[in-house]
Amino acid sequence: MALKIAVIGAGNIGGALLGGIVKSRIALPKDIVAIDASDDCRRRVAAQRKVRTLPAATAQAIAGRNLIILAVKPQILPAVLQELRGSLRRGQIILSVAAGVPIAFIESIIGKNIPVFRAMPNIPVVVEEGATAIAGNRATTATQRKLVEKIFGTLGAVVSVDESHLDAVTGLSGSGPAYIYLIIEALIDGGKKAGLPHDVARKLAEQTVLGAAKMVRDSKRHPAALRDEVVTPGGTTIAGLHELEKHGLRSTLISAVEAATARSKELGAQIAERFPQQASSPISVAPTRRRAPAKPRIHSRVR
Ligand SMILES: NC(=O)c1ccc[n+]([C@@H]2O[C@H](COP(=O)([O-])OP(=O)(O)OC[C@H]3O[C@@H](n4cnc5c(N)ncnc54)[C@H](OP(=O)(O)O)[C@@H]3O)[C@@H](O)[C@H]2O)c1
Repeated sequence: MALKIAVIGAGNIGGALLGGIVKSRIALPKDIVAIDASDDCRRRVAAQRKVRTLPAATAQAIAGRNLIILAVKPQILPAVLQELRGSLRRGQIILSVAAGVPIAFIESIIGKNIPVFRAMPNIPVVVEEGATAIAGNRATTATQRKLVEKIFGTLGAVVSVDESHLDAVTGLSGSGPAYIYLIIEALIDGGKKAGLPHDVARKLAEQTVLGAAKMVRDSKRHPAALRDEVVTPGGTTIAGLHELEKHGLRSTLISAVEAATARSKELGAQIAERFPQQASSPISVAPTRRRAPAKPRIHSRVR
């Protein structure tokens, strides 16, 4: 049976998901509806992806959709869920990418028996090199999880984690692109300080980061082993590495992930405080079988 999908919020992340779904033929454009408040955004996705678009998420818009992807900003999510809660049926899957919004919060509005996945992608999904972690509630099945992994697999790497790890995921891969942008910027400045023209330094810096990441990913070897292989006694690399160690790059990056993880926890607590007891009467559907929490798994790209 053809998969019917609704994507609510078709901006950066929703737009990338639409791209991955259409390109990999997980669903056909005629079976996808993109719902977005912005006229520009609707025009863009209709032209690029050839999907139907609507300006607002209504009961009618999601009727008969197997998968409903929520890719609006976290502050918009409660209103969208409230709008949909009476219309959701057993068998429909909710996938939220809203940063910091716990599954329990979504369940508090729509009930515990609707399968809910929460995903934490990062911005390189827009160039199909994202890193995404997903977690699901007890109502989700292995087959549904495979579908969600397949969708994010079209946009890069996917891991399944327990929801309690999503703050750490946010601190590492969610915020990580910004750390790497900073490193690339600094490498460019280093090249310029050593006399290279900007364009040359930029090309070399970006490709060095890309190439090193590819070596780590494709070889599956420990980064320390790869590093050791390029350190010649008395050579240039050890001179550079010594400076990085002296100034604590390793420790700084560990602290950056730790600080961003702590901040993610704080923001999550604020969301919970701002929207306490959303649904005093969540919708009721028949219970589904219970499942053990996911063990961490790593999936390679699905192309
Ligand atoms: N960007 C990231 O790196 C990243 C990473 C991880 C998770 N996320 C999460 O992904 C979600 C989307 O982020 P994004 O960066 O893709 O945001 P975005 O580019 O602003 O996209 C959100 C879209 O939703 C539209 N919208 C607003 N209210 C709506 C409504 N009631 N119904 C339907 N559409 C509505 C917005 O239109 P208007 O512009 O007119 O408001 C906008 O086009 C957020 O929850 C964020 O936390 C983002």
